[in-house]
Amino acid sequence: MPVFTMTSAADMSRRILLARLCGAFVSGSAMLAYAGPLSANERYRLTLQVLAEASRVETKAYHRYVAFARKAKADDYRGVAYFFIALATSELIHAQNYNTVQSSLGGEVNSYPMPEIKLGETKSNLIAAAKAEINTIDNVYPDVVDKLSREGNEDAIEKAQYALKSHRQHKALIEKILAYAPIFFETVARRIDESSNQFFVCRICGSTVDAVPEKTCPICGYATLHYRPVDRSAFMR
Ligand SMILES: [Fe+2]
Ligand SMILES: [Fe+2]
Repeated sequence: MPVFTMTSAADMSRRILLARLCGAFVSGSAMLAYAGPLSANERYRLTLQVLAEASRVETKAYHRYVAFARKAKADDYRGVAYFFIALATSELIHAQNYNTVQSSLGGEVNSYPMPEIKLGETKSNLIAAAKAEINTIDNVYPDVVDKLSREGNEDAIEKAQYALKSHRQHKALIEKILAYAPIFFETVARRIDESSNQFFVCRICGSTVDAVPEKTCPICGYATLHYRPVDRSAFMR
C-alpha cells in the first residue's frame, strides 16, 4: 500500500499548483508542459507554402515577360513590348503582395535566382505568354485560392483574389491572341501596337487597364490614385 510521506505530498501539491498556474495537464506523476497558442507560421503552415510557391511563379512570370519585352523591342514590335512590360509590372506587384503577407505571418521570404527562360521569336513568345496566362486563370489560381481557403487567412486569400481577378481582366484579349496570333501574327502585333497607347497598373492589386476607372479600382476597391502609368522604358535598361 503506497504511503505518502510529508515530503512527497508537499511536492505533489506544488506540482499541481504549478500545473494549474501554467495551464498544464497533470496525469499521475507525469506533467506535460503547456505549449501555448500556435504561432502564425505554425497556424498558417499550408498558407505560407502556397504563398511561397505563388511568389516564385509570379517572380518567374515577371522575369519572363521582361525578357519577352526586350526581345519584342529589339524586333521592333513596340506595342507588344509595351504589353509585356505592363504584364511584368502587374506580376511584380502580385509577387510583392505575397512576400508582404509571408513576412507578416513570420514566414521566410525567398529571393529566387534568375530562372531559365526559353526565349523564342516574338511570335512564339506572345503565344507562349497567352497560354501561360490562360493556365494561370483556369488552373493555377483557382487551386491557390482553394488551398488558401483551408486555413482561412483573409489577407492571403485577398491577395490571391487580387491576382486572379487582375489576370482575368485581360482574358478576352488573351483568348483573341491565342486564336489569331498563330496564323495572323503580324496583324495581331499591329493591333496591339495601335491599341496600347498607355497602360495603367494599380499598385495595390496589379489590375492592368488602358484607361483609369472613374471612381475606384474594380478589383481592390482602393482609390484610382493608386493606378500609375506604365513606363514604356521600365525594365528595359
Ligand atoms: Fe500575376
Ligand atoms: Fe486595385
